[in-house]
Amino acid sequence: MYTTPTMELYEASAAYLRERITGAGLGDPALAVILGSGLGAYAASDAVVDRMVIPYREIPNFPTSTVSYQKGELVIGRVGEKTVLFFNGRFHYYEGWEMWQTAYPVNVCHLLGISKMIITNAAGGINTDTLEPGDLVLLTDHIKLCADSPVRGRNEAAFGERFFDMQAVYDKDMRALAHACAKEQGTTLKEGVYAYMAGPQFETPAEIRMLRLVGADVVGMSTVPEMIAAAHCGMHALGISCVTNFAAGVTGAPMTEEEVLETSAKATAKFSALIDAVIRRL
Ligand code: HPA
Repeated sequence: MYTTPTMELYEASAAYLRERITGAGLGDPALAVILGSGLGAYAASDAVVDRMVIPYREIPNFPTSTVSYQKGELVIGRVGEKTVLFFNGRFHYYEGWEMWQTAYPVNVCHLLGISKMIITNAAGGINTDTLEPGDLVLLTDHIKLCADSPVRGRNEAAFGERFFDMQAVYDKDMRALAHACAKEQGTTLKEGVYAYMAGPQFETPAEIRMLRLVGADVVGMSTVPEMIAAAHCGMHALGISCVTNFAAGVTGAPMTEEEVLETSAKATAKFSALIDAVIRRL
């Protein structure tokens, strides 16, 4: 029997965070950001004031990051007038977490009254006509080929309906705002469809050829479970990929984690400037 979480788990995490937020004199949060590989610098920057850092292990029932390059901490602070939650480190299916655990922060955010998310990742570039490493890509949609889902199992009505629409979660207005901000900053912001692969192995060249044929532009091992949970909760989200490498088979060069981290580190400045502007104007 597939185990499904109980509401008490989520409630305990949310209650703890609510208390910490109120205790720090911060207002109700309206927005949360999940920071992908190598994209965590913004949360530590001066843009985030009255900052409070909560290691995931201190939050009741919260999963903890197992990947060495991700911090595993929640940064809460103000950007302008807004209280924003930054998840610095996320939970991947390939680490051994159940799908519902990979989306756990999103469900907790819903209980905190958060209705908007920015979900970011490092991704491989499939569509070589339009994309190259270093590009930022606004996600318009996704393709998930693995059967598991964060909402498999008993439906939790406190989050949403059993069957729910997936057409609105990649929010049009948030995308338009991101494009406007990028334009003002002179940053090229592309658009694309994200293919989710469970990993942790990178894809084979044949898998990438298939993904390109079915309409995917970028590929990665995160984001989609969180997007599904966000849609379930009726949230709106902005998905942003940083293309860190050409996908398998494009150049034939060996694929490494180092390349992914090196390229996302180079994109940090333009990525941080973009999400800063988006957060302030949302
Ligand atoms: N494939 C899957 N995940 C990734 C990639 C990739 O090429 N690059 C960064 N994350």
